[in-house]
Amino acid sequence: MTNEDFFGEQNFQLSPQKVENSCPSNIALIKYWGKFENQIPANPSISFTLNECRTVTQMQFFPNEEFSVETFLSGNEEKNFALKIEKYFKTIEIYLPWILKGSYKISTENTFPHSSGIASSASGFGAIAKCLMDLDNLFTDNRQLTTTNQKASFLARLGSGSACRSLYNGLVVWGETPVVEGSSDLFAVKYPDTEIHQICKNFKDWVLLIHEGEKSVSSTVGHGLMKNNPYAETRFQEGRDNFVVIKEILKNGNLAEFITLVEHEALTLHAMMMMSDPAFILMKTGTLEVINKIWVFRKETNLSLFFTLDAGANVHLLFPNDNDCAKIEHFIESELLQFTQKGGVVKDEMRF
Ligand code: PMV
Repeated sequence: MTNEDFFGEQNFQLSPQKVENSCPSNIALIKYWGKFENQIPANPSISFTLNECRTVTQMQFFPNEEFSVETFLSGNEEKNFALKIEKYFKTIEIYLPWILKGSYKISTENTFPHSSGIASSASGFGAIAKCLMDLDNLFTDNRQLTTTNQKASFLARLGSGSACRSLYNGLVVWGETPVVEGSSDLFAVKYPDTEIHQICKNFKDWVLLIHEGEKSVSSTVGHGLMKNNPYAETRFQEGRDNFVVIKEILKNGNLAEFITLVEHEALTLHAMMMMSDPAFILMKTGTLEVINKIWVFRKETNLSLFFTLDAGANVHLLFPNDNDCAKIEHFIESELLQFTQKGGVVKDEMRF
C-alpha cells in the first residue's frame, strides 16, 4: 500500500506539540505465529481486547530539531526502547513524511506491573500509533476521522504485529480471511458484534503471573523460527481453517466447542516452539500444573474455566462472567495462585 492510496496528501505544517493517548492490550484466541516480509501474517488471527491492561503514552514533538527519541517508562529512561522506536519511525517515514523532522520525548505508563511479562508491545505500539495519528491530524489536512483508527492499526502493525488488533474493542481480526468481510493483512478490523452470541462477549480474563521478567526467546525470534519449522505450513492452514470453525461457534455460542478450540490454539502455539530448530520452551512447571488443575476442575465441576497462553509462561484464565464465576474465582484463589512466582494475578476482562 502506498502513501497516496492510504495516507492521502503529504503536505504538512509542523509545530511543537504534546499529545497523549492510551491503548489496551489484547489476547489472541486464534494465534498469529509466523510472518512474511513487512509484518504480513502467515495466517489470520482473532483476539479480544482487554479492559484494564493498557498503556498510557505522552508524546512531545519538537520540530526542526535533529531527529532523536528519548523514552521513559514510569519516569525511568529506557535507552534500548528509544533505539527500537527510532528504528520504527524510520521504517514508517514513507507513510508519515514529517516523522523524522524533529525530536521526541515519549513517556509511557502501563496499568499492569512492568515485570509481569504481560505483552506490553501490543498496548505500547498501539498507544504510540494513536499519538502519531494525533500528530498527523494536527500537521496535515487529512482529517478523515473515520479512517484514523484504521491508519493507527496499520502503523501499530509495523511496530508489533499483534498491536494492530488493540485499536478496536471486542473481538478483532487481523489477516485476510474469506470468513470475515473487509479483513486485511495490513490492518485489523472489528469482528461484527451482531455475529457474536452473548455468551462469547462477557469473559473474565485473570492472568496468572507464573513467571515475571524477561522471556528467554523474544517473539521476533520465535516468528523467525517458523521459517524452517517442518510443521509451519500445516499450522498456517489450520489457523485459516479455524476461522471457519470459530465463526460458527461465535454465532451459536457453543461454549464447549469454544473451549476446545481456544485451548488447542494455545497448545499449538507452544508446540510450534518445541518443534523449532533450535527448540525452545516458554512454559514453566507452574504453567503445566495450572493446565492440569484446570482440566481436572472442569471435569469434576462442569464449570467453564479454560485457558489460553501468550508467548510466555503466564496463563490467561478465561471464564464467563455469570452466576458461577464466584465459584471459579474461589478455585483460582485457593488452588492456582500457589503456582505463581510471587502470588501475582492481574484481574481483567473483555472490553466490549
Ligand atoms: O506481535 P508479536 O510480534 O509480539 O507476536 C505475538 C504473537 C502472539 O502473542 C504469541 C500471538 C498473537 O496472535 O497475539
